[in-house]
Amino acid sequence: MPGIVPNRAAGPEHDAPAPGASCGVVHLAFIMDGNGRWATQRGLPRVAGHRAGLEAVRRLVRAAIARGIGYLTLYSFSTENWARPAEEVGELMRLLRFFIRSDLATLNARNVRVRIIGEREGLPEDILALLREAEAVTAANTGLMLIVAFNYGARAELVRATRRLAEEAASGRIAPEAIGEAEIAARLDTAGIPDPDLLIRSSGEQRISNFLLWQCAYTEFVFSPVLWPDFDEAALDAALAEFSHRHRRFGGL
Ligand code: IPE
Ligand code: IPE
Ligand code: MG
Repeated sequence: MPGIVPNRAAGPEHDAPAPGASCGVVHLAFIMDGNGRWATQRGLPRVAGHRAGLEAVRRLVRAAIARGIGYLTLYSFSTENWARPAEEVGELMRLLRFFIRSDLATLNARNVRVRIIGEREGLPEDILALLREAEAVTAANTGLMLIVAFNYGARAELVRATRRLAEEAASGRIAPEAIGEAEIAARLDTAGIPDPDLLIRSSGEQRISNFLLWQCAYTEFVFSPVLWPDFDEAALDAALAEFSHRHRRFGGL
């Protein structure tokens, strides 16, 4: 956005995490589900649920900063969501544009670093420009990393990474026997980002819907019955409390 400059130093506007607020979650991944049902329950068109969901995004970002979470990944549009009616897809695109235009300055002031994951090819040119701008403007920030999964599908991500590796192998830049887990992880959209500790899905659905398949190998899952537009700090704290009682073993004892 013209006029928005990268942060140079943390200022009073930054929502620094409260001392001791750390909840033990370095990376929280979120499947924001239930917008359509929220609207239908109120006799509203589905798009009204998506609009209401935007306020829940703002709430969760603030709450994540306050709890000392380092990385927040939000599933906002899947590669399968193109199958929805054109009017709904159009509204979801419009909302992404609106979110970046209206919230980028605030995110930047809060020292948030924005990163977008997902397939860029085929997205409208003006959206691509906004995504690049959101990343560039906030690139030097050191607070929460907000990872927006847009036009994201884990299988498509794995296909892209596999193609990259195949090209490198075919051209002799990498030996097949040198390909291990780290080499695959480094070619995913999430390269450099630690795996999620906790994945929350709102709305009561209990499935992963093609989200972060590689990265969630040892992630804890919490399924919240709350519909996304109603997801508030109390719902987040309930999920974090459930997480705090989990015993993560990573295959060990
Ligand atoms: C989640 O809400 C938002 C997106 C998938 C973009 P839904 O639109 O899936 O809402 P439900 O699941 O139909 O209630
Ligand atoms: C997953 O929700 C995708 C996003 C939240 C962006 P969906 O509502 O699309 O998933 P399914 O169709 O219920 O599995
Ligand atoms: Mg849904």
